[in-house]
Amino acid sequence: MQNFEYQNSTRIVFGKGTIARLEDLVPADARVLFAFGGGSIRKNGVYDEVRAALGKRTVEEFSGIEPNPRFETLMKAVEVVKAKKLDFLLAVGGGSVVDGTKFIAAAARYEGNDPWQILLDAGASVKDAVPLGVVLTLPATGSEMNSTSVVTRGATQDKLHFASPKVLPLFSILDPETTFTLPERQVANGVVDAFVHVVEQYLTYPVGAALQDRQAEGILLTLIEEGPKALAAPKDYNVRANIMWTATQALNGLIGVGVPQDWATHMIGHELTAKYEMDHAVTLAVVLPSLLRKQKATKREKLVQYADRVWGIRTGSEDERIEAGIAKTEEFFRAMGVKTRLSEHNILASDVAQIAAARERHGLPLGEHGDIGRKEIEEILEAAV
Ligand code: NZQ
Ligand code: ZN
Repeated sequence: MQNFEYQNSTRIVFGKGTIARLEDLVPADARVLFAFGGGSIRKNGVYDEVRAALGKRTVEEFSGIEPNPRFETLMKAVEVVKAKKLDFLLAVGGGSVVDGTKFIAAAARYEGNDPWQILLDAGASVKDAVPLGVVLTLPATGSEMNSTSVVTRGATQDKLHFASPKVLPLFSILDPETTFTLPERQVANGVVDAFVHVVEQYLTYPVGAALQDRQAEGILLTLIEEGPKALAAPKDYNVRANIMWTATQALNGLIGVGVPQDWATHMIGHELTAKYEMDHAVTLAVVLPSLLRKQKATKREKLVQYADRVWGIRTGSEDERIEAGIAKTEEFFRAMGVKTRLSEHNILASDVAQIAAARERHGLPLGEHGDIGRKEIEEILEAAV
């Protein structure tokens, strides 16, 4: 096992009716920016619950944080935070609102000239941030319990991430009932995203991290069991609760300690979102199977373990078991209603070179061995058409 340090101080407040806990969790004298998205929280009552719990505190609302949050939009919120001297940020929504609020938190206290630099140096220049809390309404990204944020600059089609302990949420309220109103597409996206988060930290090469492997496999098995139930029985509280807690565990850092990590699928996927506005999870479902096939040699031992422990595949040659495990993964994504081919999104072999070139501009190589360059990305994407 590799050396590691792990600290995660986000207070998780989980369960029915927990939005009311904001009353105690947000400092009584806070001047609050209440940040949200396109309005789903107004339709499902979350907005009213939040307003009621915030009581008489000074609250400025900032709505319209879009999926794949835009730098241009977030900078408007930064102006509000500065102009109104706000000192606490509350993100209410999915991963995009949480990520967007993390960026607002860092940019509002940024001492350099251009806050886009935060994305260019992946958070290295973040020295301070406004404290923030979260009410999560879409289980998927793990952003509610990690220090990462992904921001898109529309003008240049750059989708970049940054990470800083300064933007780790102080608390996150996870009320599974808020997820009852999610459209099927977002439920499916969330399950696929969480699944791929685990794979990026698990399907690399063995380092003798027995517990992390078992935890990762437990998360994958839970998503395989509960994901389809969420589509079949959307009002089942326990199914929603299991998915919500599972998605948080997939990317709160715990299963990634002491092990090599990949993240190439995510980095390639971000280029697809930046260029074609594909949903984040949709890009992952297309890239992952193809990437696993391409990297079969270096991921061999873990691919065999994955096929065995996650999919129960124990017969056939090693190559047959590996292929069967990857095929099962594709089947699972498709059963969740998420397509797995680029051509199903009207992206053709002739588009592949441009996507790989964009990734090169944002930094290469990728993968746990640093062996995925421009040519390899082209091959992965060509095989995914
Ligand atoms: O904007 P509103 O009206 O709220 O609607 C949203 C949005 O249209 C809707 N929604 C959210 N909760 C709802 C709901 N609709 C009905 N009922 C509810 N309870 O869902 C739509 C999608 O929301 P979004 O926040 O964009 O989805 P998600 O949580 O999947 O976040 C995706 C973003 O997170 C980034 C992705 O790249 C993408 O930008 N990621 C962040 C990570 C992190 N911070 O660690 C890691 C991930 O790998 C990922 O990259
Ligand atoms: Zn993701």
